[in-house]
Amino acid sequence: MNIIVAADKNWGIGYQNKLLVSIPSDMKFFRETTTGKVVVMGRKTLESFPNGLPLAMRTNIVLTRKTDYQVKGALIFHSVEEVLEELKKYDSEDIYVIGGEEIYREFLPYCDVAHVTKIDHEYFADAFFPDLDREQDWVVTADSEEQTYFDLEYTFLRYERRPKN
Ligand SMILES: NC(=O)c1ccc[n+]([C@@H]2O[C@H](COP(=O)([O-])OP(=O)(O)OC[C@H]3O[C@@H](n4cnc5c(N)ncnc54)[C@H](OP(=O)(O)O)[C@@H]3O)[C@@H](O)[C@H]2O)c1
Repeated sequence: MNIIVAADKNWGIGYQNKLLVSIPSDMKFFRETTTGKVVVMGRKTLESFPNGLPLAMRTNIVLTRKTDYQVKGALIFHSVEEVLEELKKYDSEDIYVIGGEEIYREFLPYCDVAHVTKIDHEYFADAFFPDLDREQDWVVTADSEEQTYFDLEYTFLRYERRPKN
């Protein structure tokens, strides 16, 4: 199972239910990577999308504790266990956990690849991703050249969970 995230220097990922920054080539990478796949998200992340609509051309799985919550074009679940049961229907490589903070923390233990767009800037943030550089089990296995968007520098990193000995 994959996780995909854009994080700043401090692993900040959002502020007031919005992204910290929107980098066109990162958005393109996200779209191309997840199109045709299964995306797993929290209700707050869904509602942060334009018009609160599910992502087109993807199977959208949304977690909420609200029992009466329904959204056209999304599959709604009420616990991590329920989602993990549903995900057995899909190839693990085709599943992408797309946030936000609460969902990332809950699903990271089940993921083995993390696609991290690491932005070389410190934003004011109120949502964070776990610092993978401090997690013993995670290691960078690939990185892009440094990219730029105006004066912003960022890198596409691939982290993988170290195989257990
Ligand atoms: N930089 C990035 O790559 C990236 C990607 C995605 C999101 N973000 C940012 O992350 C922030 C949002 O993160 P967040 O942690 O506030 O929200 P979130 O993870 O998107 O959603 C949290 C909500 O998910 C539901 N939920 C979580 N765990 C659940 C469980 N075990 N069972 C049932 N429902 C569960 C609850 O919904 P109910 O309240 O409805 O019960 C909870 O309030 C925003 O700023 C967003 O822009 C950043």
